[in-house]
Amino acid sequence: MNEMVSHERNIQEVEAEHLLQVYRRIPIVLTRGEGSYLYDIDDRKYLDFVSGLGVASLGHSHQKLATAVSDQASRLLHTSNLYFHPLQGQVGQRLAALSGLPRAFFCNSGTEAVEGCLKFARRYWYTHGDTKRTRIVALERSFHGRTFGSLSATWEPAYRQPFQPLLPEVSFVSPTDPQALDTVVGPDVAAIIIEPIQGEGGIWPLTPEFSTAVDTACSRTGCLLIADEVQCGLGRAGVPFYSSTLDLKPDLIAIGKALGAGVPVGAVLMTQAVADAIAPGDHGTTYGGNLLACRAALVFLDAMEHGGLDQLKKTSAYLTKGLKYLAKRYPAITDIRGAGLMRGLEMTTDTALHTVERAMARGLLINRTAGRVVRLLPPLNVSEQEIDEGLEILEMVLEELKS
Ligand SMILES: Cc1ncc(COP(=O)(O)O)c(C=O)c1O
Repeated sequence: MNEMVSHERNIQEVEAEHLLQVYRRIPIVLTRGEGSYLYDIDDRKYLDFVSGLGVASLGHSHQKLATAVSDQASRLLHTSNLYFHPLQGQVGQRLAALSGLPRAFFCNSGTEAVEGCLKFARRYWYTHGDTKRTRIVALERSFHGRTFGSLSATWEPAYRQPFQPLLPEVSFVSPTDPQALDTVVGPDVAAIIIEPIQGEGGIWPLTPEFSTAVDTACSRTGCLLIADEVQCGLGRAGVPFYSSTLDLKPDLIAIGKALGAGVPVGAVLMTQAVADAIAPGDHGTTYGGNLLACRAALVFLDAMEHGGLDQLKKTSAYLTKGLKYLAKRYPAITDIRGAGLMRGLEMTTDTALHTVERAMARGLLINRTAGRVVRLLPPLNVSEQEIDEGLEILEMVLEELKS
């Protein structure tokens, strides 16, 4: 490490001086990880139930991932999309088998995956000669990313306001008002975009009633359905894709986060009908699906397919049981939401804030979203023992806050 920036205080000072201050960082410096644990610069250990916001799907320093990434780095990292390489097709094939959507477009983040979905939906209708079909219907409480397209479909006014005007043709409906789709989704709507479980908005799974209304609106008007599974997909919610749990059949799925297990990669998965509407040159990216990203994705998919999904179903049930117990004992928790290893505990804003701070002081990393929701996103290969440890810390904190 550069000596000048190796000390914790210096690290923070150098950032304060030279980095764009868009992040309100928590004042710890993390330097290494092992499984579900992170260590700071003073070698303090933390149980990581944030997973880099759902990215560290295999935990930290996963041996197979480390070996594969290092092996790939010594062979070939990147070639651009001008040429073939042996791995992109393999990842596409594996994702097709997992999702039932036969074609993939690779990019580098969740935001870009959403951006791709929006562009492909528009292109679909353009190809079909319906150039007026440009409106997107998104949901209140949604989060889809920060680029102009994805931000246009993101609901949070504080994120949107400073960057207006955004795409004008986005309408928002409340996910608690299924009837709203009857009027808002008309023949000018290109696509409805949903998060099957709204993540940043506070861990809200779509209700069966709303999902049925989405399905009905798509059938009635023929508009496309985009499922943003960037956070809830790829096992996080206990199943490969949560849209299938809701009986939804998306035309496009955006994924990211867990797929590279720490190596940046995102993808758009789509039906053949959508793919048929896209022509060479319509969209692209320099890095998308490079060898490093694809090699990491293959390690992740191997882990999920070889026992990972089965294990996480068990650990999900175990976590749910533990959280229900806490909610029964501590009235500070007013609701538990989510599925699988994507959980939100609703509290008052102050309690949520103190819970996160005090848990960190006791060595558990969790985070707060939508102001009052404590979010738990442990690595997908977390063990029951680690869940016990996390729940014990949470209980100590809740006990402390009671008095
Ligand atoms: C549902 C959803 N979509 C899109 C994004 C944006 O992904 P990224 O930050 O990787 O660009 C996120 C990030 O939290 C997300 O939760």
